[in-house]
Amino acid sequence: MNHELNLTLKVWRQKNEQSPGHFETHQVRASEHMSFLEMLDDLNVTLEQQGKEPIVFEHDCREGICGSCGFMINGQPHGHRPRTTTCQLHMREFNDGETILIEPFRAKPFTIIKDLMVDRSSFDNVIQSGGYISVRTGSAPDAHSVPVRKENADEAFNAAACIGCGACVASCPNGAAMLFTGAKVTHLSLFPQGQPERYERVQSMVTQMDSEDFGHCSNYGECSLSCPQGISLDVIAQLNQDLLLSSYMKRKD
Ligand code: SF4
Ligand code: FES
Repeated sequence: MNHELNLTLKVWRQKNEQSPGHFETHQVRASEHMSFLEMLDDLNVTLEQQGKEPIVFEHDCREGICGSCGFMINGQPHGHRPRTTTCQLHMREFNDGETILIEPFRAKPFTIIKDLMVDRSSFDNVIQSGGYISVRTGSAPDAHSVPVRKENADEAFNAAACIGCGACVASCPNGAAMLFTGAKVTHLSLFPQGQPERYERVQSMVTQMDSEDFGHCSNYGECSLSCPQGISLDVIAQLNQDLLLSSYMKRKD
């Protein structure tokens, strides 16, 4: 069975950061089996056939892995389905006759490049400021040469699942990036390999995060609820703990 849906889309169109944007209305028919991005692809083909500009949106893997896709669907980052990226959202989640509001992630550091595409290089800057470990490269070490506790490995793996999509920032009333930064800090601070730079790392990443104009965390928790990877608020607690310890370490030096 292939149910077709008749939908009204209200899509945000904006030429660039400087120009004002507006909602544009489109009537579309979509198969319930299409992904949300395929539905937009279809609309873009129609727009191009009519000599109009296609809607700009970001994507890459379309498998929920890369973090490229993402915009607001009916006021929620990646839409209403929990733990689902925009590329993995299917039209069967919507009702025939529904009106869907589509707009870009809105946060001060995420400036609009065009239509639904925003500049998330502030995330790259946070990672470049400390989201790595310095190691001698060479041949790969034996798998068990550095033992890691199972609990730490599991927690680090959960934190490392962050795909850097930005939904946490877009859903936060303060536009805070604590869940993202916490995930990046946590997955390295739980490993022996992450210890030498642990406290410098957290200071440097938090300083960079603040300089990128993200807001401050006031524990709403919306970030974790809208995260497609289900990153837990525990990573924010870990970040705050490491940050506190880092100022103590600094005083001891
Ligand atoms: S913490 Fe979740 S919502 Fe935030 S960037 Fe990472 S994957 Fe996306
Ligand atoms: S396109 Fe890669 S996560 Fe959606």
